[in-house]
Amino acid sequence: MAKVLIKDLVKIYPDGKGPGVRAVNSIDLTIEDREFMVLVGPSGCGKSTTLRMIAGLEEITSGEISIDGRVINNVLPKDRNIAMVFQNYALYPHMSVYDNMAFGLKLRKYPKEEISKRVNDAAAILGIEPLLARKPKALSGGQRQRVAVGRAIVRKPKVFLFDEPLSNLDAKMRVSMRTEISKLHARLASTMIYVTHDQVEAMTMGDRITVMKDGDIMQVAEPLELYNHPKNMFVAGFIGTPPMNFFRGRLSRGGNNLVFEENHSGNKGFKIHLSDTLSRKGAPFVDKEIVFGIRPEDIADILTVSDFNPNHTLETVVEISEPMGSETYLYLDTGAHSFIARVRSTDRFAINDKVKLVLDMERAHLFDPVSEKIL
Ligand SMILES: Nc1ncnc2c1ncn2[C@@H]1O[C@H](COP(=O)(O)OP(=O)(O)OP(=O)(O)O)[C@@H](O)[C@H]1O
Ligand SMILES: [Mg+2]
Repeated sequence: MAKVLIKDLVKIYPDGKGPGVRAVNSIDLTIEDREFMVLVGPSGCGKSTTLRMIAGLEEITSGEISIDGRVINNVLPKDRNIAMVFQNYALYPHMSVYDNMAFGLKLRKYPKEEISKRVNDAAAILGIEPLLARKPKALSGGQRQRVAVGRAIVRKPKVFLFDEPLSNLDAKMRVSMRTEISKLHARLASTMIYVTHDQVEAMTMGDRITVMKDGDIMQVAEPLELYNHPKNMFVAGFIGTPPMNFFRGRLSRGGNNLVFEENHSGNKGFKIHLSDTLSRKGAPFVDKEIVFGIRPEDIADILTVSDFNPNHTLETVVEISEPMGSETYLYLDTGAHSFIARVRSTDRFAINDKVKLVLDMERAHLFDPVSEKIL
């Protein structure tokens, strides 16, 4: 069992005379036993600081961290039964792969046979048995990463902590290590907390994802819940590539449903009818400022849609088209806002082509422009 409970956790780094840097701003978070929890967010949002406080490498300013009901604030890092894998691997250059993996166990005075068994088992899991005699400098980046993971596995910790472990690898290696770590999680059935700023890693690996910003938690949810039901504009814009399009504008009444009209100068803004659901949600905002959000993948080229509501269409001009093979990214402009559509296209698009689009209004969102919360 290893359930990690974080209560009202604060970290303020002193900065000389000033009030200090508030890196973590009183967060509450529960990581369930055997859960793979991803902490994600932009650079500087407090991910590493949170992880380092769990590991005991950073002093806690206030609040509480407990593992299985035992408060560990004042427990030494070595006694927390936690293993951490760092971005830079932190391998000892003068030691062989075997010794790097065995080092922590030797320090803890494990019997030789036990150490040998654990190192060989971990090497087998990670497919690095042929490398055990080599020094780190004779390994590729991906192999070094495996050794760093192996060093954590041999400890049989209650909780694994990963701080951007794949960011030094090339794109292909990242994808393959990503699946290996996911498999490892399934195999070891242990609690893992994984920090990344890569939202694709977060979506593909996490049982749940914690999205952070400026030391605060924006939302904690399962990947598809975050994607389909973001709580606010930050999460909506952070999860998904390319990100959700946002349009600032106003709502008015138009027949049965509300109509969104984007803010514009001159006569270039677009108008679109909202779905029944969105009209209900938007009712308190009639004649007020609002933000309309729609994901690039919920916008289609009209030529590829057989059945659509003419009130949910929009004509714009192509600024740039990026054919990806399976789909095309269209960079478009309404005259007042730039936006992106991911379309299944039948033809190539040229710059300045006029294109008619259908918006899936059942998947669109409205946000309060002041609180940035979803309606
Ligand atoms: N030792 C330190 N002294 C002072 N400020 C620090 C220290 N370490 C981190 N910070 C500040 O705390 C904030 C959070 O840093 P942290 O390293 O936790 O961010 P992060 O989310 O891990 O970012 P990244 O994705 O860049 O690794 C940042 O504003 C950072 O500048
Ligand atoms: Mg970091």
